Amino acid sequence: MITGAASGIGRECAIRLATRGIPVVLADVDEAGMARTAQLVEARGGSSLIVATDVTHDEDCTALVEAALRRFGGLAGGVLSAGTARHAAFLDLERTDWESMLAVHLTGAFLCVQAMARAMVASGSRGSLVYVASSVAAGLGPPRQAHYVAAKAGALGLVRAAARELGPLGIRVNAVSPGFTRTPMNDGLFTEEELRARAQNAPLGRVAEPADVARSIEFLLGPESDFITGQTLHVNGGSYMP
Ligand code: NAI
Repeated sequence: MITGAASGIGRECAIRLATRGIPVVLADVDEAGMARTAQLVEARGGSSLIVATDVTHDEDCTALVEAALRRFGGLAGGVLSAGTARHAAFLDLERTDWESMLAVHLTGAFLCVQAMARAMVASGSRGSLVYVASSVAAGLGPPRQAHYVAAKAGALGLVRAAARELGPLGIRVNAVSPGFTRTPMNDGLFTEEELRARAQNAPLGRVAEPADVARSIEFLLGPESDFITGQTLHVNGGSYMP
C-alpha cells in the first residue's frame, strides 16, 4: 500500500514493486495521477487497486485499508509518501500553514501507520512500513520551511515509537530520509543555480532521482532488512552523514 502514489517517489515505488509481481494499492488525493500510475504498473504486468484517499481524514484511512483487505485479503507492506511542500518565512508563517503541514506529514502518517498496522494484525500478517521523511528533519535544507521541518522531525519520533510497540506484533517501522529529489513536489521551488549548488554539496555529486529513494524503500520493505526497525536510512549522496 502506497500513499502519495500519484506522483514522484510513491509512483516510482509502485512501478518497482509491480515489476516484482507484487500487487499494489495506490492511495492519493490526485485521482488522475493515480490512474497514470496504474497504467505504468499495468504496462509492467502488475496489478493495482486505486483508492482515493486524503491521509488527513480518519475515515479515508480506514476505508483505504478495508478496500485493500477486501481485494487482497491481507497487507504485507506500506509506504507513507503522501506530502506537500510550501515555503514561507518563519516570521510570516500562519497557524493555518502550520496546521495543514502537520496534518499531512505527521497526523496523516499516524493515521496511516495505525490503520495499516491494524489491518496487518487483523489479517494475521507480519509486515513492514516505511515513512518517507526528509533530510530537513536533521536541520539541513533551505530555510522558509519550519512547518515542514517540524512535521518531518515529529514523524521520525512516531516511527521509533511505533517500531517499539509494533515490533512484538511482527511489524517493522522504518524511515527513509531523502535529500533533494527530482520530483514534481519541487517544481518551481528552487532555481537551477540552487540545484547545482545542492548537487555540488553532495560527495556523490548529484541530487537524488525517485528511483534512488524507491530502491531504499524496497530494501526496507523486503526480507533483506528483516532485523531492522525504528531506523532512518539516509538517501542523500552523502550530503548529510549522521
Ligand atoms: P510529489 O509531489 O511528487 O508526490 C506527493 C504525492 O502526495 C502527490 O501525488 C500528492 O497528491 C500526494 N498528497 C499530498 N497531500 C496528500 C494527502 N493529504 N493525502 C493523500 N495524498 C496526498 O512529491 P515527492 O517528492 O514524491 O514526495 C513524496 C514524499 O517525499 C513527501 O512526503 C515529501 O515530503 C518527501 N520528500 C521529498 C523530497 C524531494 O526533494 N522531492 C525530499 C525529501 C522528502
